[in-house]
Amino acid sequence: MTRRVLFVCLGNICRSPAAEGVVRALAGDRLRLDSAGTSDWHRGAPPYGPMIEAAAGRGIDLRSLRARQFTRRDFLDFDLIVVMDADNRADVERLRPEGAETPVSLFTDYAPEAGMNHVPDPYYTRDFEATLDLIELCAAGLVRDLL
Ligand code: 4NP
Repeated sequence: MTRRVLFVCLGNICRSPAAEGVVRALAGDRLRLDSAGTSDWHRGAPPYGPMIEAAAGRGIDLRSLRARQFTRRDFLDFDLIVVMDADNRADVERLRPEGAETPVSLFTDYAPEAGMNHVPDPYYTRDFEATLDLIELCAAGLVRDLL
């Protein structure tokens, strides 16, 4: 069965849609992918303009993605939830339904060589290229792991 993977960040307009797009470029239809935010701040919005631009520079088209908020049901609808930082993990775990065993992993754990324990949020750092460099490393590791 095709595995369903959900990427989660805070706003669902920078890191998690970029992760979704980069992994999709590597995995094609071998994985079913989506992304969500722990907040509802950008519900219905496309990814952040500077992230769309930076990803486009690497051949990744994020324009069709739309933000949505993570919900408890995502624990049932996905086989793996991949978060960008420890705050995302805590916010997601707070919603875990009783008995749900869906694993939650940290994206950076798929690229130990990067020596990072979170994906820096370019909405604040403004360094979209550094975040995409890291996302590409993590994406390659995740695809190696799952496929
Ligand atoms: P993301 O980045 O979690 O990677 O999508 C953010 C985007 C927007 C905001 C925070 C983080 N915001 O405060 O609106």
